Amino acid sequence: MPNATQRNLQFSHKAATAVAERLVSLTGVEIMGRTALVTGGTRGIGSAIARTLRDAGYTVAASYHGNDLAAEDFKAATGIPVFKWDVADDEACAAAVAKITTAYGPVEILVNNAGITRDAMLHKLTSEHWRAVIDTDLTACFTMCRTVISPMRERGYGRIINISSINGQKGQLGQTNYAAAKAGLLGFTKALALESAAKGVTVNAIAPGYIETDMVADVPPKVLDSIVAQIPVGRLGQPEEIARAVVFLASDDAGFITGSTLTVNGGQYLI
Ligand code: CAA
Ligand code: NAP
Repeated sequence: MPNATQRNLQFSHKAATAVAERLVSLTGVEIMGRTALVTGGTRGIGSAIARTLRDAGYTVAASYHGNDLAAEDFKAATGIPVFKWDVADDEACAAAVAKITTAYGPVEILVNNAGITRDAMLHKLTSEHWRAVIDTDLTACFTMCRTVISPMRERGYGRIINISSINGQKGQLGQTNYAAAKAGLLGFTKALALESAAKGVTVNAIAPGYIETDMVADVPPKVLDSIVAQIPVGRLGQPEEIARAVVFLASDDAGFITGSTLTVNGGQYLI
């Protein structure tokens, strides 16, 4: 049985350890060295996610597909390395993850953000545009997760964050392909979360509302005005408002959150 002095010493040691752990967490030292991969990380929402993760202390790699100029500008402005490949190509995904792992260590945070739209009413939608969206916005998430999941399970740690959409939750005129892919991500997220929970790997989705990026700039102005009028906050969201949610879900503090969908949509659709 420890005496009072020993008990005080034990308590002080415990308190000092807790304070030290908290300081480590606050200074970000514990996350230094963790590697985060953001697909579609050179423009729009992905660019904000990559920068914000970098500012939080992660080692970040960003991928892109075809816009070399934007990728070079992003790299020059941030110093974040960029990797060019099509996330809809499964062999290219495996090769790129292997390259990133060799250069920066195993991917511990994966943000499946790359996405496209090919909007058209169903009666005008081509099979090519159906497949392009399903391959890029849904199947790529399967491929990327399939590539990183075994190493994450073996190390007992991982964070996967899938960028879905308000339109996967509520549907949208002209987006049967996109809504199907983004709704598919939500089911995928829940199923993989259940498979991964006991292995220290969390899997969550974020469902952004309309965010001010090139993707939304393609919406016909008259239609966009009518959409903004439906957002209670009264404006489009900013990419950084999604990025901050990603950084939270990537943190150790979010270890009890898995299989969830975080809606960040200015109140446009409440679920
Ligand atoms: N909300 C309300 N009405 C809409 C609408 C919308 N989102 N989209 C189209 N309409 C209306 C049009 O105003 C038009 O009405 P009228 O006939 O009364 O003028 C009618 O539907 C038909 O539209 P179009 O004349 O434009 O028909 P189209 O075949 O040329 O184009 C369309 C159809 C491709 C759906 C086009 O309207 C469009 O691009 N709409 C925007 C769809 C959209 O919201 N996409 C989101 C992209 S951003 C994104 O996806 C990010 C995210 O996750 C939120
Ligand atoms: P964006 O501005 O168009 O940027 C898309 C990014 O994804 C770019 O870096 C692009 O690379 C990359 N990309 C596209 N296809 C790819 C592919 N096949 N392989 C690899 N990279 C690819 O889009 P955003 O608005 O930031 O959207 C980002 C994500 O958020 C998407 O999944 C989107 O569906 C989702 N989202 C957006 C909104 C919104 O309102 N903006 C709302 C909800 C959800 P390149 O530069 O080379 O083209």
